[in-house]
Amino acid sequence: MANLFEIRYDTICILDPGAGTGVLTAAFCERVLNINKKVNLIIDVYETDSDVLPFLEMVLESCKIELERKGHAVEYNIYNQDFILHNVMYFKKSGLLWDAENRVMYDFIISNPPYYKPNKDSPQSVAMAEVISGQPNIYILFMALSASMAKPGGEMVFITPRSFCSGLYYKKFRKWLLHNVQITDIHIFESRTEIFDKDEILQENIIIKASNDIRKSGREKLTISTSKNRDFNELKRLEVPRSDIICNKNGESFIRIPTSRLDVNVLHAIDKLPNTLKDMGFGISTGHVVPFRAKQYLLPELTETSNSVPLLWMHNMQDMAIAWHLKRNKKESAIQVCSKTTPLLLPVNNYVLLKRFSSKEQKRRLHASVLLEAKFPYKTVGIENHVNYIHKSHGNLSVHETCGIAAILNTTIVDNLFRSLNGNTQVNATDIRSLPLPTIEDVRKIGKLVYESKTYKNGSDLDNIVAAVIGIDAKIVENLNNGGTNQ
Ligand SMILES: C[S@@+](CC[C@H](N)C(=O)[O-])C[C@H]1O[C@@H](n2cnc3c(N)ncnc32)[C@H](O)[C@@H]1O
Repeated sequence: MANLFEIRYDTICILDPGAGTGVLTAAFCERVLNINKKVNLIIDVYETDSDVLPFLEMVLESCKIELERKGHAVEYNIYNQDFILHNVMYFKKSGLLWDAENRVMYDFIISNPPYYKPNKDSPQSVAMAEVISGQPNIYILFMALSASMAKPGGEMVFITPRSFCSGLYYKKFRKWLLHNVQITDIHIFESRTEIFDKDEILQENIIIKASNDIRKSGREKLTISTSKNRDFNELKRLEVPRSDIICNKNGESFIRIPTSRLDVNVLHAIDKLPNTLKDMGFGISTGHVVPFRAKQYLLPELTETSNSVPLLWMHNMQDMAIAWHLKRNKKESAIQVCSKTTPLLLPVNNYVLLKRFSSKEQKRRLHASVLLEAKFPYKTVGIENHVNYIHKSHGNLSVHETCGIAAILNTTIVDNLFRSLNGNTQVNATDIRSLPLPTIEDVRKIGKLVYESKTYKNGSDLDNIVAAVIGIDAKIVENLNNGGTNQ
């Protein structure tokens, strides 16, 4: 992280918000020790945990001694203050407290910010409401405030979870960030568990470098690097046009992170597709049955005698087909039909079901199945809350539309694109809404081919059908099915 800064000045003001014991600042000082010129270094750090303050002080004092021994000048200030509340006037840049001339602005900001969800009514969330939609996470407040505290041309390097790159909750923040800073580098750790293992964060984590000089558009390319683990062994680098990374769709912006040339080729191929679900008049909703809330209406088995219908869980989705009799882990297979469950049940129509979660071990993120009215001998059905369903906003999806959409979502191609968009094992409806899809005619053509050839198993046959109809290079499909080894 320290190596990412471009040291161009003789006087450097650096900020480390949420400094802990000061490891990141120490890494920066080590970097300064290895450069040829003498610098005047001013370090400001923020840390609220009083227990770590003595260690922070020791680390910064050691840095000062070591740097001054080599002829540099060092001043450090430890603020035992809430970083957000103490600096929020930088974000607002208005009001009596704002006095631009006397505010310290920073050349560099380095941070591994805290990660937790403050209450929506907390003073920090209220003060920075402009970047909050839904459930905020404190790390985005650290990022937005830090960006506001950088000098023109200043640089910030943050290590954070990847969650802000997509999804509804970070919509406002992404808009704000992309408007106010220019991202120049993204590093992604391929192992999801190793980096924040103690915190049990099952997220991919990224290091992001951004400059607040958005006019600095000299760099039309962004550097993406990947490493397998925290040792940065086997570091891979890729230069990618900014437009491939920052994607605007449906009035929203997303940050996509392709990690190979093959991923970039997939982005290009899919970006050409003209539609989204909404354009075709289709919607996506979440299954209405939350088992613990509907417990009294759930039945262990589906029986002829009980007035009940199948309850479909993720485990009932077997590739493209639905095995409604399949039972797992004593989960209830049926839901009663009565006046209390009417709002929970769906009339049986043609639907695409889509799992909302994949496990860490699973290779694929997207798993879609088809529920076809003609093959499902019930009038209503319960869809469990871990399953999303795609429907036609007005009317019923045709069989070919249903099979077409499910087939497209089940391809390795779309799964690969989805991974560039989302680092989470969760499949958000928002991300699916923004997925580029082919014309409705091509969706139907794919559906017809899949339905008539009964290609219900995921894999290269399905990929080839979809690729042929929408005109994706067969080599891309072949490479994807070889695990990207021929790229
Ligand atoms: C993820 S740790 C990172 C520590 C250190 N930078 C590192 O990389 O090892 C985040 C730190 O932020 C501190 N912190 C949490 N909330 C804070 C706040 N509102 N203002 C300042 N520091 C805060 C925590 O006490 C913790 O030490």
